[in-house]
Amino acid sequence: MTPAPTLRAATEADLAAIFAIYDEQVLHGTATFDTVPKSEAERLDWFRTNPGGRYPIVVAEDESGVVGWGRLYQWSPRPAYDRSAENAVYVRADARGRGIGRALLEELLRLAPQIGVLTLIARIVDGNPASLALHEALGYERIGLMRRCGVKFGAVLDVWMLQRVLDAPR
Ligand SMILES: CC(C)(COP(=O)(O)OP(=O)(O)OC[C@H]1O[C@@H](n2cnc3c(N)ncnc32)[C@H](O)[C@@H]1OP(=O)(O)O)[C@@H](O)C(=O)NCCC(=O)NCCS
Repeated sequence: MTPAPTLRAATEADLAAIFAIYDEQVLHGTATFDTVPKSEAERLDWFRTNPGGRYPIVVAEDESGVVGWGRLYQWSPRPAYDRSAENAVYVRADARGRGIGRALLEELLRLAPQIGVLTLIARIVDGNPASLALHEALGYERIGLMRRCGVKFGAVLDVWMLQRVLDAPR
């Protein structure tokens, strides 16, 4: 059996591996509505744009390297939204179905209250059963469907909004 990966905070040295995983969906999937891979400078900007240094980026790593990553994003620059954040989770195609996505999202849910985030939001394209199953397994609820809000590969796409409300830390 493949040993479980370890989780750790991402560094800039992980950006090539993070974007190798992400760009598979940029170019060939609908999990992200990005359509153009980021340049080196844009990758650094993605890593460094972290208002207040608050929002974690976590990687899962095993002997084959980085097998997945997850992060929290600021939901809105308007300060009254500071208790909300959006999450993203991506697992390398050959490492899916081994619990790595669950481990990454559980880690984000553990870290969120530590930075004062008590509402997690996920946007998931209709037709991504793996991501819907992952989020619903971890207590996210569908709160709406944004109809016909995107186009990729010539298909008009609907996007589910999901939410997980956390308890304040004791
Ligand atoms: C979505 C994704 C992160 C899930 O990661 P993963 O490591 O394969 O998922 P896990 O093995 O941790 O499984 C998590 C749960 O989802 C379920 N699941 C995983 N893949 C599934 C699939 N293809 N269909 C249905 N359920 C699935 C598992 O049964 C599991 O449920 P359980 O923990 O209650 O048993 C991964 O498929 C991925 O990276 N996909 C492409 C990028 C993406 O869609 N990211 C999310 C953007 S919103």
